[in-house]
Amino acid sequence: MNFVVLASGRGGNLQAIIEAVGTGKITADLKVVISDKKDAFALERARQANIPAVYINPKDFADRETFDRVVIEKLREFKIDFVVLAGYMRILSNFFVEQFPNKILNIHPSLLPAFKGAHAMKDAFEQSIAAKGNLSVTGATVHIVIPELDAGPIILQEQVKIDPKDTLESMEEKIHAIEHRIYPQAIDLFAQGKLRIKGQRVLQIKP
Ligand code: GRF
Repeated sequence: MNFVVLASGRGGNLQAIIEAVGTGKITADLKVVISDKKDAFALERARQANIPAVYINPKDFADRETFDRVVIEKLREFKIDFVVLAGYMRILSNFFVEQFPNKILNIHPSLLPAFKGAHAMKDAFEQSIAAKGNLSVTGATVHIVIPELDAGPIILQEQVKIDPKDTLESMEEKIHAIEHRIYPQAIDLFAQGKLRIKGQRVLQIKP
């Protein structure tokens, strides 16, 4: 199976994925990394790993779908079977999602459905403070992408304890460490055909 990583930022998850492909923990080929941000460090990480790194400038296109059509052309060129979003800060058009039904994975830094949206970690941390420590867990979630944002069937999810001594930064570090472990796991389960999606649920086929 061939896959792409779409990323807009520093590429910590991408790095974990590159390493997992290298050690055989992910049994699929990462063919190309695409970014909507010219200076995304994710592109640099791809280049360092000898993976084609492609920047596509959203400002060159009139709207979201036109941009997505160009991304999809690239995916066809690289014979991509499934799509991995890793810190990709753009909302996919319905057109994109329909082209890869149940074949797009995303990682989100909270225990979905709690704390959807772009500020999940900050929101969870602030709520934990506001609740005087009574919100004591958050986490990370890998899910299938559907048109509704941060709402698709959940593949893997893991908790992180929010310690009263945590700062936002220390809590974020703990979440990232979990992300870098569960995302490669989920990608490999997907690539090996071990997942079945039934409505809102993902079932794991036992060996
Ligand atoms: C991660 O926290 C991920 O959950 C969220 O964006 C962040 C990306 O970080 N979607 P990185 O670029 O992978 O380091």
